[in-house]
Amino acid sequence: MSNQLFNLEGKNILLTGASKGMGLSMAKALANNGANLVISSRKIDQCIKAADEINESTGIQKAYGFACNASSKNELKDLVNFSLEKLGSINTLVCNAGVNSFFGSMSEIDDDSYDKTMDTNVKSNHWLINMVAPSMKESGGGSIMITSSIAAFNASETLGTYSISKLAVLGLVRNYAAELGPFNIRVNAICPGLVKTDFSKLLWENPDAEKATSQRMPLRRLGEADDFMGVAVFLASNESSFMTGQALTICGGASMWS
Ligand SMILES: NC(=O)c1ccc[n+]([C@@H]2O[C@H](COP(=O)([O-])OP(=O)(O)OC[C@H]3O[C@@H](n4cnc5c(N)ncnc54)[C@H](OP(=O)(O)O)[C@@H]3O)[C@@H](O)[C@H]2O)c1
Repeated sequence: MSNQLFNLEGKNILLTGASKGMGLSMAKALANNGANLVISSRKIDQCIKAADEINESTGIQKAYGFACNASSKNELKDLVNFSLEKLGSINTLVCNAGVNSFFGSMSEIDDDSYDKTMDTNVKSNHWLINMVAPSMKESGGGSIMITSSIAAFNASETLGTYSISKLAVLGLVRNYAAELGPFNIRVNAICPGLVKTDFSKLLWENPDAEKATSQRMPLRRLGEADDFMGVAVFLASNESSFMTGQALTICGGASMWS
């Protein structure tokens, strides 16, 4: 194995929500740095397409696709079994799947939308971490990253439940970091600002709206999915081996340390 920084040769990585957007960019970067991957999302054709693209660019089979709705415990179990069968072990877990099923006041959200948001964004990550931790413990450690959001840092009159779910992700990260630290398993959160993906299209597809929002940002632009390649590689690599329980904010300066 080379001693080059950020080398991921020999790392086996399971990603959720990785068929497009930030998850796909992270998957590409992880494979390019040497990792083997299982890419999952709800749509199998999109997962296979993403895996094929990666395998073509690396020239060898580094990625496998598997369909899994992150809000289903049984599908998560199947995903973990598939990953262990294909990769042999799981050293790194990227919990990137997330949903926002309601836009508006919390006083009007229906129970289904509330449950869907909290189940997919919070409970699914709790399930998945518990399913993957035994493999990490067996191989002497691991790294877990969960995509939160800068929405976690503030109240919102239109994205209240989503914000609460992403704040709960930070709590989940902190607690698992404490519980799994003695096993050399690190757990960190990634908090993106507004990133130009399908997920947030309503907020940037109008060019005037995008321009107005960009002008309020210190870096004068919105994020791109590829802005998340480096942080995923860093957190998966041994170069972040003393970092756990943290929230890494990547938002063009929209939210600053205080
Ligand atoms: N874009 C932003 O501005 C922004 C800002 C802060 C945080 N985030 C967070 O970033 C993460 C990724 O978002 P993105 O912007 O990259 O979105 P995206 O481009 O829409 O991609 C979302 C990915 O998640 C998958 N997915 C959606 N629901 C799923 C479910 N229930 N189970 C499994 N996979 C599911 C999608 O594929 P399928 O449709 O095939 O399932 C897709 O692969 C989310 O956690 C989101 O909350 C986004």
